[in-house]
Amino acid sequence: MGQGRDGEWQQWRARRPPSRQIHLDTAAAGRSSAETLRVTAAHAEREAVVGAYVAQAEAAPVLAEGRAALAGLLGVAADGLAFTESATAARDALLAAWPLPAGGTVAVAPSEWGPNLFAFSSRGLALTELAVGSDGAVDLERLARLLADQPPALVHLTQVASHRGLVQPVAAAAALCRAAGVPLWVDAAQALGHADTATGADAVYATSRKWLAGPRGVGLLGVSEPGWERLRVSASPLELSSLPDGTSPVRLLESHEANVAGRVGLCAAVRQYLAAGPARVRQRLAEAGRLTRETLAGLPGWEVVGPAGAPAAITGLRPAAGQDVGGVRDRLLAEHGILTTASHPARAPRDMTGPLLRVSPHVDVTAGDLGKLRDALAAMS
Ligand SMILES: Cc1ncc(COP(=O)(O)O)c(C=O)c1O
Repeated sequence: MGQGRDGEWQQWRARRPPSRQIHLDTAAAGRSSAETLRVTAAHAEREAVVGAYVAQAEAAPVLAEGRAALAGLLGVAADGLAFTESATAARDALLAAWPLPAGGTVAVAPSEWGPNLFAFSSRGLALTELAVGSDGAVDLERLARLLADQPPALVHLTQVASHRGLVQPVAAAAALCRAAGVPLWVDAAQALGHADTATGADAVYATSRKWLAGPRGVGLLGVSEPGWERLRVSASPLELSSLPDGTSPVRLLESHEANVAGRVGLCAAVRQYLAAGPARVRQRLAEAGRLTRETLAGLPGWEVVGPAGAPAAITGLRPAAGQDVGGVRDRLLAEHGILTTASHPARAPRDMTGPLLRVSPHVDVTAGDLGKLRDALAAMS
């Protein structure tokens, strides 16, 4: 990542409100562009000027275009996409609508997002762990064997782990699951805008605010067409009265009352992402992750978790000298203006053995930013 490449992405930074901080916290929430913020605020203002429902009707073409773009990114039809409030709300809507056998087994990787494990268990589903390689990625041969010998009711993968650089081979897993007739659902909360999320999974859910840098309070659920008939959805006559005949069951999962300004803002964010070029952004984020891990490797008192070359911009740093990760995160912010996350092991209880400092830059990160992080951590040890 030479000066030239850094420079190429500084426009991304220049399009956001200026900040004195070094933002290395996209896995929590990305920084929206000034254009996204302007469009979001303009819609909210329009609601007050012409009436909220009139403003929503005016925004219908923008929302339809954004819906189609987001559906394309998730690999589903436009009618297979529902806007929700968060990835969690999308997952819960899916769990409520897609019947799974009582006591059925959900196969997950050890890196699974902790709240998903809790959601499955609390609905009476049993968990089984998929075999993985030394990097934590699902072993596809062993997945194929499991699907043949002891098919679970559901395979669930978190495509990009929340706490460290780890990307699951979701497209290959989707092909195996489809051939075996076992549904695959994907948590793409950390993957949308970061990895290729059009993987052929039966259902996929994500959030606006992280790698797409859209507004908070907006999530999305995509269900591929063969899965529509599995959905058990009910809507009140009042809700149905506002929807055209033949509305897909997925659209019936969409929240009726909503942060429409946020959805309009997400549509702007996805336009900007598509203009930047998803493949180019993916490549740059992989590069940002690699540079982060290379910069932090060998830092006294810290250990980079996982392989340096993982194609994700999330890095987990394990404290090796008894540091209090929460305290380090707070001091990085207060004393050095560097924003990171203190990751609690509950994020991925089957993969994390203790807290990690999470570093998650976006495409605009420079070698200088990461050098400052390294120096700040070194000064604290
Ligand atoms: C892997 C993963 N899944 C799900 C979520 C939850 O997303 P939301 O806060 O939009 O519900 C997160 C949030 O950090 C996440 O990292």
